[in-house]
Amino acid sequence: MDKFLITGGTQVKGEVVISGAKNAALPLLAAMILAETPVTLHNVPTLKDVNTLVKLIAGTGITIEKNGDTVTCDTSTINSYYAPYELVKTMRASILVLGPLLARFGQAEVSLPGGCAIGSRPVDQHLKALEAMGATITVENGYVKAKAPLDKDGNRGRLKGCHFTFDMVTVGGTENTIMAAALAEGTTHLENCAREPEVVDLANMLVKMGAKIEGIGTAYMTIEGVDKLNGCEYSVVPDRIETGSYLALAMMTGGEVTAKKTEASLMQSVLKKFEEMGAQVTVGSDWINVKMAGRPKAVDIRTLPHPAFPTDMQAQLMTVCCIAEGTSTIIENIFENRYMHVPELQRMGANIKVDGHTAVVQGVDKLNAAPVIATDLRASMSLVMAAVAAQGETCIERIYHIDRGYEYVEDKLRGLGVTIERVKGE
Ligand code: UD1
Repeated sequence: MDKFLITGGTQVKGEVVISGAKNAALPLLAAMILAETPVTLHNVPTLKDVNTLVKLIAGTGITIEKNGDTVTCDTSTINSYYAPYELVKTMRASILVLGPLLARFGQAEVSLPGGCAIGSRPVDQHLKALEAMGATITVENGYVKAKAPLDKDGNRGRLKGCHFTFDMVTVGGTENTIMAAALAEGTTHLENCAREPEVVDLANMLVKMGAKIEGIGTAYMTIEGVDKLNGCEYSVVPDRIETGSYLALAMMTGGEVTAKKTEASLMQSVLKKFEEMGAQVTVGSDWINVKMAGRPKAVDIRTLPHPAFPTDMQAQLMTVCCIAEGTSTIIENIFENRYMHVPELQRMGANIKVDGHTAVVQGVDKLNAAPVIATDLRASMSLVMAAVAAQGETCIERIYHIDRGYEYVEDKLRGLGVTIERVKGE
């Protein structure tokens, strides 16, 4: 397994070009399954998770190719509606093919994703919403087997519009359901929908494909099903988490970073926290500049669904709190086990106490290098940030996590002045 060696003590300075959002690219790739004519998707990041989904879709016989940051897809060659455990187990978002396969072809067999490091992460809401649309769903031998209702001639028919309220705000659940509803017969009313920018991006692409969706970006969406969806050309929204991560590095090191090809409107709650911590934030139409003079101030953070503070930025901001002046309180409300970076940060000298969902961080003057292990995707970025600010050379193991979600991470960090080396493992 590859490792990073990072020499700390750098004050980062420079520009970083932000990639397309992983969390938008994945549902957009799944949505390609719905189109009867070819789809072209631009600004798709080169990431392990994207490769996994491309492989999974190709496994159904669909012709799908990634060239640079463009993916083209032609569904006319499909011959299977099956997503195997071997691929699904490496990435939970694979479940996003369930809704599109079922809605378009009346059947799907997708491995049930297991738990994952940050929590149990069930998919009950995805399944309940599809059942509300008339699907018959069974779980056999670890696979979700879903079938659309029969039509009057006894052939596999279409899903039916329904009224469904999500028990909790779920990003993937909302995405799977709106993709399925886009091709259902009749109108679907969805309450308590996720409002994340990536859900909006998916809804916008579906509209470009011919879907009829109202209430995009709100908790109440109405989808009038259409008979078919066509291909289109679409570009993935910028990655707000990648943007926030590089900008947070400026706060961590008393430096200055300009993130380009991104949008401040996607991440107001995060930028507000940056300002509360004493950063100077300047925004343009497609860039954000963050400048930090001196030590950041402590801050209180509570993760909640969008537009509140995102759980995917919790680990990175906690790392800034580690060297902030004063005591910060962090409450993680989305996932039950998302403090796995804490013991690693403690090894680097951080003063953090965790009690259930709450972490209290007493800022220290400096962090020190130590051997650490990346435990999940965003946690791995938090360790990179800690290493860049720490005194000495830090070795971070299991960086395959970071490769799942940060495109060209070493190049981008080097562009900001970071001394980083990837040591190839077996
Ligand atoms: C997505 C993001 C992930 C982010 C998360 C929350 C992608 C590919 N991943 O994950 O980076 O951290 O949103 O913003 O977009 N839940 C249930 N039942 C369900 C579905 C969810 O109980 O059927 C729970 C989950 O366990 C979790 C909460 O709801 O506690 C939110 O999960 P959800 O929004 O669905 O996250 P994902 O879509 O998996």
